Amino acid sequence: MAAIPKTANGPADEAADDLTLLAERHLVQPWPVSGSIGAEARGRLDAGEGIYVTDASGRRLIDGPAGMWCVNAGHRNRELAEVMASQAMELSYNSPWYTTNAPSVILSARLAEHAPDGVDHVFYTTGGSSAVETALRFMQFANNVKGRPEKKLIVSRQGGYHGSTYLSASLNGRPRDHDWMDSASDLVVKLSCPDPFRRPDGMSVEAFCDFLVEEFRQVIEEKGADRIGAFIAEPVMASGGVIVPPPGYLRRMQDLCRRNDILFIADEVVTAFGRLGHVFASKEVFGIEPDMITFAKGVTSGYFPLGGVMIAGRLFEELRRSNHSEAMFAHGLTYSSHPVGCAVALKNLDILEGGLLAHARAVSDHFQQSLKALEELPLVGEVRGLGLMACVECVADRASKNPLTLDLEVGKRIDRHCQELGLLVRPLIHMCVMSPPLTISLEQIDDMVSILRRGIELTMDDLTREGLWKG
Ligand SMILES: Cc1ncc(COP(=O)(O)O)c(C=O)c1O
Repeated sequence: MAAIPKTANGPADEAADDLTLLAERHLVQPWPVSGSIGAEARGRLDAGEGIYVTDASGRRLIDGPAGMWCVNAGHRNRELAEVMASQAMELSYNSPWYTTNAPSVILSARLAEHAPDGVDHVFYTTGGSSAVETALRFMQFANNVKGRPEKKLIVSRQGGYHGSTYLSASLNGRPRDHDWMDSASDLVVKLSCPDPFRRPDGMSVEAFCDFLVEEFRQVIEEKGADRIGAFIAEPVMASGGVIVPPPGYLRRMQDLCRRNDILFIADEVVTAFGRLGHVFASKEVFGIEPDMITFAKGVTSGYFPLGGVMIAGRLFEELRRSNHSEAMFAHGLTYSSHPVGCAVALKNLDILEGGLLAHARAVSDHFQQSLKALEELPLVGEVRGLGLMACVECVADRASKNPLTLDLEVGKRIDRHCQELGLLVRPLIHMCVMSPPLTISLEQIDDMVSILRRGIELTMDDLTREGLWKG
């Protein structure tokens, strides 16, 4: 029988075996497979400092994915920790049903200053899935109030990821998201993934962009603009493998939305709060002005579970002018507008505005160029990215770009080698995603990339030795 430690802060070595056993017996972690569900202990991390985390064996690792694209201000930031403690001692909770709190009001106003003009209201949630869910339910509600209950279809894209609640997950476009799961497929239409690397052979990037826009135009024509409520897109697809769409794609998709009265929801759960060098990337990086912007993760640098959706004020005006003043947006979360989360977000915004955004912009070219050099390695099909997010995609051979003929665990193999060498990688089947804390220095980028290079080289050796890859 494993002993249950009274706290998680006891002597690590003595408790280590017990904690592994307890995890296997009692903890269910996200995205388990049925072969090990309910009986799995994942590698434990015990501490963090800046861009580093320390694992249960005391090994210090660069946090390559910044947790889950979220620890933007780095680990163990004293200012964030202290503001959390002081807000909890001041007002730890208030019911958003019938009261409000100062941090959430001030944060709303400050976020509105960063969002595109007119996108000036915020509904706070507990994370990204609930932010997406809120945006979608608001679209449904608004169309009901406006007397057009048929206008509810949601257009998303293959390769996209929007969350793990039922409706947000229904938008996801990666095959494994749906292989064994149910979804609200009658509410969703999926367009092609805007991945220039996998565009049809012989097609230019410009022609590929035309094709993608035309596909959307045709869907609108076939389904009818009066049945489509929203188009949702991550400006850069994150979990789908850091897919940067062709130039002009997002603006042209927005034009189609505008012409057909379809709400454009930019899912900035990953791209906001500095990952692309700005608080929101929609306007600053891509020149688009969405009707709603969902965010989470970096808003508190992962120190507190908070998300939200920015909503254009004109959408509320339309509702206020409608003939249904009694219609209720019956949607809210116990932890909406949480005072501690909003206080942390305010301090995090101070840190971003106070230099971290500028730093992220200053180091991103070096980050992208250093990683791009890994394309020299024959296992690497493409390195792509923007700002401080990038993906190294491995392929069996460059001509076919086929990842499926390669060992599908190649990302995990690279991660295992990198961990031995001091780097945590986010393996995504045959891809490695890199999105470190924004505090990373030029030297630390060099360390990160040289470990990743060595990890890939060692993986090439393994695959060759095992006869799985010919090089
Ligand atoms: C673009 C995007 N949207 C939504 C989500 C869901 O966020 P959460 O896991 O906080 O619910 C994620 C999570 O990775 C994401 O990457």
